[in-house]
Amino acid sequence: MAYEVIARKWRPQIFDEVVGQEAITRTLRNAVEQERLHHAYLFTGARGVGKTTTARILAKALNCRTGVTVTPCGVCASCTEIAAGGSLDVIEIDAASHTGVDNIRDVVINSVGIAPARDRYKVFIVDEVHQLSGAAFNALLKTLEEPPSRVVFVLATTELHKVPDTIASRCQLFEFKTIPLTKIQAKLGEIATSMKVDITPAALAAVARAGEGSMRDAQSALDQVIAFSGERIDMPDVATALGIVGDETLYDAIDAISTSDAPAALRQAAKLAEAGHDLRSFTRSLMRTVRNLLVTRAIGYDPELVDAAEADAERVVDLASRFTEAELVRLFSLLTALEQDIRHSADPRFQLEIGLVRMAELPRLRPLDEIIDRLTKLEARLTGESGAVAPSAPARPVASPPPVAPRAAPPAPKRAPAATAPRGAAAPAIPSPAPPRSVADEGPPEPPPFFDDEPPSDFEPAPPRSPSPPRTRSAAKSTAPTAPPVATEPLDGDAAVREIRARLEAQNKMMLLTAFDAATSVAVDGGRLVLSFDAVTAVHGRTAELSKALIESIARDVVGRTVRLAVVVGAADASTAAGAAPSAATQAALEDPAVQGLLEAFQGQLIRVDPPEGESET
Ligand SMILES: Nc1ncnc2c1ncn2[C@@H]1O[C@H](COP(=O)(O)OP(=O)(O)O)[C@@H](O)[C@H]1O
Ligand SMILES: [Mg+2]
Ligand SMILES: [Zn+2]
Repeated sequence: MAYEVIARKWRPQIFDEVVGQEAITRTLRNAVEQERLHHAYLFTGARGVGKTTTARILAKALNCRTGVTVTPCGVCASCTEIAAGGSLDVIEIDAASHTGVDNIRDVVINSVGIAPARDRYKVFIVDEVHQLSGAAFNALLKTLEEPPSRVVFVLATTELHKVPDTIASRCQLFEFKTIPLTKIQAKLGEIATSMKVDITPAALAAVARAGEGSMRDAQSALDQVIAFSGERIDMPDVATALGIVGDETLYDAIDAISTSDAPAALRQAAKLAEAGHDLRSFTRSLMRTVRNLLVTRAIGYDPELVDAAEADAERVVDLASRFTEAELVRLFSLLTALEQDIRHSADPRFQLEIGLVRMAELPRLRPLDEIIDRLTKLEARLTGESGAVAPSAPARPVASPPPVAPRAAPPAPKRAPAATAPRGAAAPAIPSPAPPRSVADEGPPEPPPFFDDEPPSDFEPAPPRSPSPPRTRSAAKSTAPTAPPVATEPLDGDAAVREIRARLEAQNKMMLLTAFDAATSVAVDGGRLVLSFDAVTAVHGRTAELSKALIESIARDVVGRTVRLAVVVGAADASTAAGAAPSAATQAALEDPAVQGLLEAFQGQLIRVDPPEGESET
């Protein structure tokens, strides 16, 4: 006998067999028992959750030979014809293929007045009703407004918002839910047992999960896996048959993130992409994993709540212990954004790579006591500094990293400890290819831990008040061989800006030109190119930051020396004068050691400068 697909073979035949829609089936049962029926029902919900199934059961309940009953016999002519979808009095229309007004006229309007041929009720089941044309809706509406007796409409749709209100308001609405994983899993288990298929719990869970709340999709996935591996099914079979990523891979990815191992994360992305995996579904699986970790972190490992294979419990507990709850929440929201980005991207692989690296490089959140500790030290240092030249360094050995959050297994940082970076070395003349950093950052690519020894030379007290002449920084004096020849006649600020814009245009960098246009001011000020934005245009500031390296290299060519890009996002009124450098207050703030210290200690960003009370800006 030919293989009958599971979804068809296992279509529920009575209300009690419909899984996960208990509220709906109870209401319908009551209606049938009391024969208090609506003329029209509107079933909405995702695909494969039981809409058509329930509609057919309702039709059988009304038309079974044994009488109107909540338990149709299933063997009489009416029941069998309805179950097969071919009854004279129960008419199924797929609106997706009958979109024309004529079809609705022919099939519905013209036959609606004719009494049932054999059964008690005429039932019209219109699937994907939102696909009807406007004219067809109007025709349907007329019928719904004056429904003949003994006619019941069941309209079904996956997209409720596309059904006109005029139609929806005349129907009793039932919202079918996606089916809980545990219920799908139980159903699949029952099916597997009856088919004498031996499937491990982890594999069963993975198949159920593949349905994403749709029973039909889960059942089709089971068909697929059985076709692939026969009667013994293990997790690797499922992964291969369904093209899903095994849990091991997910845990490895989290492992890489927890140890800030960006290269490992990148290797994983490459492996997944090359194996042809659906990267979006991988991202979703990663979300599930992070959610499991969060649950474990919050309330301990609970097999009821954590959706993971029993055998992986230890691994889950270990991974969970490496993060704080706040970090896991942040990972989750990054993954949510990543999933969106992948959905809309022509190059999902790039998105995944960037996303994974971003997560791996996520500065770990510091526990509050550590923050207070840092602030105290910062305060101490500043007071010491104002005292005089006396070195105010706290007596912590250079190499020891700041205390890290009390984690079960503190991951060893994979990046070279910053303290090993040569002190006082000139910053490279070539703009660092590092990811965009905080706007006010002027330090070398890998700044040393802020508190661990004497302040870097950048932290000389700022000159009185601005507008200050550009400070000469070691970076600007760089004599690295890659530095371009110094222009003999340095361009003045405005001319330089004009030239930078011209080059951006020549290179067709329209996004960046737009960002320049959106800036409230653009100024070349010694070694700095300052782009100011207000709250409204701040988004363009980010565009500029993302292309920091490019902008800096163009500016360097134009000005003839190393130029650092500074993106300043200020209050809307902070910098109105066109061509002005950042406002005096902003400039002063950026040069204030206390502010610099805060920015660096928290990897922060200068958003706005409010002038002290009583002072007004000029
Ligand atoms: N709630 C459910 N309980 C049990 N099986 C279901 C359920 N929903 C869907 N199925 C399975 O999926 C198949 C298709 O369901 P169907 O009712 O046609 O979904 P739809 O909501 O798309 O109309 C059914 O034959 C059945 O095997
Ligand atoms: Mg359907
Ligand atoms: Zn019957």
